[in-house]
Amino acid sequence: SSPSAATAPLPKAELHLHIEGTLEPELAFALAARNGVTLPYATEDELRRAYSFTDLQSFLNLYYALMAVLRTEDDFADLAHAYLARAKEQGVRHAEIFFDPQAHTARGVPIGTVIDGLARALDSAREIYGISTRLIMCFLRDESAESALATFEAARPHLDKITAVGLDSAEVGHPPSKFAEVFALAREAGLKCVAHAGEEGPPAYVWEALDVLGVDRIDHGVRSLEDERLVARLVADQVPLTVCPLSNVRLRVIDDLADHPLPAMLDAGLLVTVNSDDPAYFGGYADDNFTAVRDALGLDPETLRTLARNSFRASFLDEADRAAYL
Ligand code: ADE
Ligand code: ZN
Repeated sequence: SSPSAATAPLPKAELHLHIEGTLEPELAFALAARNGVTLPYATEDELRRAYSFTDLQSFLNLYYALMAVLRTEDDFADLAHAYLARAKEQGVRHAEIFFDPQAHTARGVPIGTVIDGLARALDSAREIYGISTRLIMCFLRDESAESALATFEAARPHLDKITAVGLDSAEVGHPPSKFAEVFALAREAGLKCVAHAGEEGPPAYVWEALDVLGVDRIDHGVRSLEDERLVARLVADQVPLTVCPLSNVRLRVIDDLADHPLPAMLDAGLLVTVNSDDPAYFGGYADDNFTAVRDALGLDPETLRTLARNSFRASFLDEADRAAYL
């Protein structure tokens, strides 16, 4: 086969990707200039040097601060286009994309501006990049349950553009059960549900995401391995776990990629996928994560193909579209 065929990235679905986490320094400075926003960093290099994190919160502080440059519908559309162009190069054929409306409405950006900008880019994604897409609206778990409810009501006129709700931001101290009411409303409205759980938080939070929120997938979930009964439940129900290896290392959830539990998770029979989380901050997009785990964990080609197949199995594509990839 030709060299290019030998190195072509595996076709895959990206299921754990925060669009705000794809804001590269170059675009951040361009949008800052366009919107007259002053960043607390003089150069792109100086900003990049701030990408040294000790835990989830240390990352979130910078992640929320840089969002100051996102103000207009065009900004959100440009952000999504920049991601989609990179995703295409990484073999991504389908992307289910998180966004954090409260991080924008708190700064005075209307939720319709955020959703319309993102949806405009995603509407042309199949044609321009060959990527099908879904939008997942996340609630910030370190904000109140009332704020999540108000956000859901503000999003109601836009629910035709949204496939699922999610739960993200600082995990410890903010258990899934805090958001039982808004997730019930989302389900009633016909939306799918996902939640970050078991990243920094305990297995008990994964149980709550399953049994109180009724989620269809768990985002991260790496700490599930600490609870044998939980693993048995996740395996029995084939609940997908959207694991993010480079993120886990950068946020010190895992000390070293060579010690990542991904192989143990696969051996246990869990439906695991590999994703990029916040690729502008964590050193790699979707295929970069595949390559990193291949090299650090010695995964063979068959295992990599299983991970790619799992990404479509775990997606919210309808049966016919999913079948085309399996
Ligand atoms: N928001 C963006 N990335 C996140 C992560 N890895 N965990 C929780 N919230 C997030
Ligand atoms: Zn995440």
